Amino acid sequence: MSKNTASTLLSITLLATMGVACGGSDSSTPDAPAGDTLPKCASGSNAFETFGGSAFLAVNTKIIDNTLAEFGSGGSGAANLGSAFEHLGDATQGSAYADDATAFTGKLAAFLVFAYGGPETTVVGGVTYHGNQDMVAAHTGMHITDAQLTYFITNDVVPALTASGVTSADVSACFAPVITSASFKASIIGH
Ligand code: HEM
Repeated sequence: MSKNTASTLLSITLLATMGVACGGSDSSTPDAPAGDTLPKCASGSNAFETFGGSAFLAVNTKIIDNTLAEFGSGGSGAANLGSAFEHLGDATQGSAYADDATAFTGKLAAFLVFAYGGPETTVVGGVTYHGNQDMVAAHTGMHITDAQLTYFITNDVVPALTASGVTSADVSACFAPVITSASFKASIIGH
C-alpha cells in the first residue's frame, strides 16, 4: 500500500470514527467502528485492542480527576481551560451543560472507547452510555479555543495515559492522531 493510500485511509477512518464529531447524525445506527484502520500502537493493534476496556475506564477516571483538579485549590482554575468545566451539570448555562459529573464521566468513557476501536456502548456504574456522540452539540456554547483544547490534551489527557502505563511512543502513535486531527479539533473548537 502506498503512503498516500495509507494516509487517505487513515483520514477516512478518523472521519468515519469521528463522524458525529463533525456534526453528523446522532442516529441509533452508529458509524461502523473502523478498528482495523485506526492508528496502531507498538503492539501492532489499535489502542482499544491493545489496552482493553478496563484500562480505558481507568484512564477516563484520571482524565476527569486531572481536569476537575484544575478547579480545586492549587489548580489554575479557568486560566487555561476557560470556565466551561465550572458549569458542569448546570443546564441554565445552556443545554450542552446538562450532564452532571457522573453522566459526563460515562459519556466521555463511551466516546473514547468507541473512538479508539471499542464497542459502541460502554457500561459505567451500571448505566449504558453510547460512544457515537455529537461533539459539536456537546460543546456548543462553550467557545472552546485551540489553546484550551491543546492544554486539556497536554495537561489532562496525556498525563492520564502515561500515569496508566502507556508509553510516550504509544501516546504519539495510537492516541494522539485521533484527538489532534483537524476534523476532530474542528468539532470541539469555536462552538
Ligand atoms: C480530547 C478532547 C475532548 C473530548 C474527547 C471531549 C469529549 C466530551 C464528551 C464525550 C462529552 C460528554 C458529552 C455530553 O455531556 O453530552 C463532553 C462534555 C463536555 N466537554 Fe468535552 N471533550 C474534549 C475537550 C473539551 C475541552 C477542551 C473542554 C473545555 C475546555 C471541554 C468541556 C466539556 C464540558 C464542560 C462538558 C460537559 C458538559 C455538561 O455538563 O454536560 N471538552 N466532552
